[in-house]
Amino acid sequence: MKDNFWHNLERPILALAPMAGFSDSPFRIITSEYGADVVYSEMASVTSIFYHQNEPEHRTFDILKSDPAQKGYYVAQLFGSEPEHFAVAVRLVEKIIKPDGIDINFGCPVGKVIKQGAGADLMKDLPRAREVIKAVLESTSLPVSIKIRAAAGPVNALDFLKNIADLPVSAVMIHGRTLAQGFVGEINCELIREARQCFSGVILANGGINNLEQAREILVKSGADGLGLARGVLGRPWLFQEIKDGRELELSKKEIAAIAVRHAQLEEKLKGAGAIVELRKHLCWYAQGIPGASHLRGQLVKVKRVQEIEDIFASWVEEKI
Ligand SMILES: Cc1cc2nc3c(=O)[nH]c(=O)nc-3n(C[C@H](O)[C@H](O)[C@H](O)COP(=O)(O)O)c2cc1C
Repeated sequence: MKDNFWHNLERPILALAPMAGFSDSPFRIITSEYGADVVYSEMASVTSIFYHQNEPEHRTFDILKSDPAQKGYYVAQLFGSEPEHFAVAVRLVEKIIKPDGIDINFGCPVGKVIKQGAGADLMKDLPRAREVIKAVLESTSLPVSIKIRAAAGPVNALDFLKNIADLPVSAVMIHGRTLAQGFVGEINCELIREARQCFSGVILANGGINNLEQAREILVKSGADGLGLARGVLGRPWLFQEIKDGRELELSKKEIAAIAVRHAQLEEKLKGAGAIVELRKHLCWYAQGIPGASHLRGQLVKVKRVQEIEDIFASWVEEKI
């Protein structure tokens, strides 16, 4: 077993939570520069890896590739429902991607994931979930973490953690909303606090952390070792630094523009010019709640090249609003 980084991190641990379509290599670089201690990949399918195991250039591996510029510890997140697929995928991911840790998704509510008995559907199936975790633990020397919800159907986070209490899982990120809640509503901090009684590893609270005040409140109420930040850092990666430093930052238009442009440059460098279209959704998050936001977004949803993004932000910085 390699050194387990989860045990060596200062509290509170700040993590970029996994987000399909968002927590890609460029955004992981940017958030790690703002202080994310741990950055999770977008979820990748173990079944896809299983069926393309002799194709290291397959796009499922692309999702997981990381760049040396990324600071912080890198956790590759996998989803699926077959223990055998997990076993094969984890060995390959460890060899080809070389992450610092492996995470298993037990929280995804998306139809195509649920239909294959994966994500939050797997959280409901305690015996199979345990088999999956065992298969992963037996197939890797890396620390293994899991991401679960407050509840999925009749199974709550405490039932889930009791079912695997004897297994050496290093960390759990608990999205404090139930599957029925989806992505809206209060997070259950009391339940996260109770998880401490049935889980000896690192506990990260997740859900609804959009500013410094919410971060403080959730840390205190949940008693967690750290936080997983998701939508709260889209277009605001500096929230990591605000939490680290314990004070809010007032970024100028010029500073916000510089971050967005750098994000675009990284996107082109690491994923090719074609990826700029994918980046539009990120760019729109930067243009959220700032002066002239809707005009700016109207332009950003059409961009195809980095130069256009630079020009749009340059004239926004010049505007007297
Ligand atoms: C666009 C999007 C993609 C997501 N993709 C994943 C994923 O790949 N794996 C995962 O475990 N959770 C995923 N999530 C869930 C987030 O990690 C997080 O649990 C959820 O958004 C709640 O946190 P928030 O309220 O701070 O956004 C995703 C969420 C969003 C909004």
